Amino acid sequence: MKLTEDEKAMLDGAEGAGRQKAMELLVRYGEALGAERFVDTNNIAGVPGSSNLFMRDYYKDIGNGYEAIYSLFDLDSDVIVPVPKVSAYSCHLQGGMDPALWSEQGMTKEAFEHFQKDEAEVADHGIQLLKTCTPYLAGNVPVKGEHCAWMESSAVVYCNSVIGARTNTEGRESTSAAMLTGKIPDWGFHRDEYRFGTHHIVSEVAVSDVIDWGMLGYFVGDAVQENIPVIEGRISQPNLVRHKHFGAAAASSGGVELYHMVGFTPEAATREMAFGPRKPRETVKYGQAERQRIYDILNSQGTDPNVDYIMLGCPHFSIEQMWEVANLLDGKKLHSGTSLWVFTSRSVKSVADANGYTKTIKDAGGLVMTDTCSAIGSVVPKGTKVVALDSAKQAHYLPAMMGLEAWFGTTKDCINAALTGRWNGECPR
Ligand code: F3S
Repeated sequence: MKLTEDEKAMLDGAEGAGRQKAMELLVRYGEALGAERFVDTNNIAGVPGSSNLFMRDYYKDIGNGYEAIYSLFDLDSDVIVPVPKVSAYSCHLQGGMDPALWSEQGMTKEAFEHFQKDEAEVADHGIQLLKTCTPYLAGNVPVKGEHCAWMESSAVVYCNSVIGARTNTEGRESTSAAMLTGKIPDWGFHRDEYRFGTHHIVSEVAVSDVIDWGMLGYFVGDAVQENIPVIEGRISQPNLVRHKHFGAAAASSGGVELYHMVGFTPEAATREMAFGPRKPRETVKYGQAERQRIYDILNSQGTDPNVDYIMLGCPHFSIEQMWEVANLLDGKKLHSGTSLWVFTSRSVKSVADANGYTKTIKDAGGLVMTDTCSAIGSVVPKGTKVVALDSAKQAHYLPAMMGLEAWFGTTKDCINAALTGRWNGECPR
């Protein structure tokens, strides 16, 4: 790779051993990718230095916990180096437990005390504790064209597609190294030539509600895998929540990191603009039969209509969704056999608290949790056998991870299940 003077200096150790190890890792990474240079980045989202009890114990005998894990695990260094404060604007994504409701999640005091120590280290290194998979809802909103280095597939696809900022799906190692250096390889979605569409998707059915967007996303991901879909047809203006569900689903059934919607997303004012010099490899139709097939797949893990857990907030709920759920629950009580956990970011929860939504949900018998979710934290209420979900992404992962039956439907279907204990959802017409 061709390095600039400041990059060479970091690699030579002029800014300390921590940044030197970070540059060494990034150079190896860039060379493996075939990148010729770095781009500067001042917007990084990762999980720097964080650990659970298993990781803590694995590194316990080697040295100082946080620095040992950051050095040996994140930076792939063979020695522990002092880890300096970050030099680029950086945030911490979701983690494994709620900072207040950890005991309800089945976590131990020991795990919580470790979480607190870990979090103090993250803050001390200058990293923002957003603790969410939706940093764009918690104060980190890049601008079009901005070079970012983000982990978390649902956040990456939102960043690239809806905002038009530029990031590959980075890993823990590259994001932790980028936080110390402000550099990431100039490769993949950082470059214009990799951002054009490859597959043409035409929806023959109307796509308007959140559930429609989730199902279309799940279909698109399965159809294009890791390619770049350009979506047209009977789609109407998606808002933030619809994009969030569409992208998360497409990044789950496939590996979609960037999509274009003609007339709606920033790099797709026209079909020609979306495809640029590329010819579509394939045109794929999404009709009534395809929609029904996706609904059936997402409900294929459900047989027992008696629901004992309702999980909402994948990706983490927006304040609009908190408002919707609070309205649906206002003055009502959950069925005695069900639990409802709603996941969001700390930032959105603070607004939900101020608006009384958290209290409304709590008065009905539900809980609002932050920082994590059932899949990422492997946390479900004790004894859960059947879960109801409004997220295609969570329906993709949770039943397999936790050995549960699962139903997929609208947020309203899920709240009905929470109130009655029974699943009554149907494929939307
Ligand atoms: Fe977020 Fe968990 Fe879904 S981390 S995107 S809520 S799987």
